[in-house]
Amino acid sequence: MLSTSHISKDIIGSKSTILKNKKIALCITGSVAAIQCPILARELMRNGAEVFAVMTPSALNIISADLMQWATGNRVVTKLSGLLEHVELAGTHIGHVDLVLIAPCTANTISKIACGIDDTTVTTVVSTAFGAGIPIAIVPAMHESMYNHPIVKENIEKLKKLGVIFISPRLEEGKAKIATIESIVARTINILTKRNDYEGIRVLVTAGGTREYIDPIRFIGNASSGRTGVEIALEAEARGADVTLIYGVGTVEAPEHIKTIRVETGEEMLQAILNEITKNKYDIIIHPAAVSDYGPINTEKFKIPTGKTELSVPLKPLPKIINEIRKVDQKVFLVGFKAETGLSEEELIRRAYNKLRESDLDLIAANDVSKEGRGFKSLTNELYVVDREMKVHHIPLSHKREVAAKLMDIILDYFKRRKESDW
Ligand SMILES: Cc1cc2nc3c(=O)[nH]c(=O)nc-3n(C[C@H](O)[C@H](O)[C@H](O)COP(=O)(O)O)c2cc1C
Repeated sequence: MLSTSHISKDIIGSKSTILKNKKIALCITGSVAAIQCPILARELMRNGAEVFAVMTPSALNIISADLMQWATGNRVVTKLSGLLEHVELAGTHIGHVDLVLIAPCTANTISKIACGIDDTTVTTVVSTAFGAGIPIAIVPAMHESMYNHPIVKENIEKLKKLGVIFISPRLEEGKAKIATIESIVARTINILTKRNDYEGIRVLVTAGGTREYIDPIRFIGNASSGRTGVEIALEAEARGADVTLIYGVGTVEAPEHIKTIRVETGEEMLQAILNEITKNKYDIIIHPAAVSDYGPINTEKFKIPTGKTELSVPLKPLPKIINEIRKVDQKVFLVGFKAETGLSEEELIRRAYNKLRESDLDLIAANDVSKEGRGFKSLTNELYVVDREMKVHHIPLSHKREVAAKLMDIILDYFKRRKESDW
């Protein structure tokens, strides 16, 4: 048995339970990027997963099996034995892993998998998973010259056609570097929570804050991380929606597999949205972006000199993007957000409802960003979702991805009901 009880597992589910009851075979090959694996394994565990490491002999030259046993709390597969470790992990029986994640994956292992060769622990687990229909995701890492090898390229295409998911590398400094841990975890969550209840539905999501420039280098902005919008976009995509993300300024990475339009100012965000909704028909628009309500009346052409004892910057209110959306599309299912600070629950809901009426929204999600764990930069949030009849759905404090999942359940329910009543 590869699963053991171990003190290292005390972090499982400490961030979220999104991957609860999910088992992942983390297959490690001989790339320097293997040094990321303990951190990757533990991030997957913090989101609820149980991780089993499988290592090739070349991987063992880079990091040790002891390190991965410490990281995962499970026995590490470094060779195959009469225990049939490959079948225990990736066979057809109940209890097999839910995903085989090869991270990092060398050029060598990519090509061997594409040719059906299984002569290492990793390639044998992958061969077994292929036959058992278990999802396989590959995270390549190598020098760019190896990544550009025509046969490696051909093999990647061949594997994609066979349903293998590739998490693209970052092309930097002449290398095809392993994707960031954040994006590997986000993709893993998407693969493992895949559903199709949003299939055929086009969803536009906004995320992040905006910058309104006072002079060429200074601006009015806010501390939005972009996480709420990004998690909503990821959740919608995982559930089969056709998603476009319009992303302002934020610290959370834009998902590489979702069509993303980057903008900086509120005006750019407005134009990007109007451009999208006039070109393409969207069914649902969700607008959590923290767009500045005010901006300078004038932007100075040159940097305002330092040393002034006092400086006033006259501001003007900026157009409300959500109102502009409604003017252009009266039919789209429109979901707004209202961030407030220091209000009672009743007052927060009342103001959200007034905003819903004023902007002709279908739903509005309100939260108090001054409360601990609900702020712009936090990983968690709590929402009150208010409808046109002032009915309130409470989404308790939890990881923003879990909040996104519950919000998308509520939106889908209302969207379907409205569609039925339109007929
Ligand atoms: C220090 C070191 C770093 C390496 N890094 C990579 C890498 O990032 N990507 C890659 O494709 N090969 C890399 N290699 C070469 C592979 O380890 C080699 O192709 C090996 O045969 C891969 O075996 P495996 O795919 O069974 O793990 C590296 C080799 C060494 C010695």
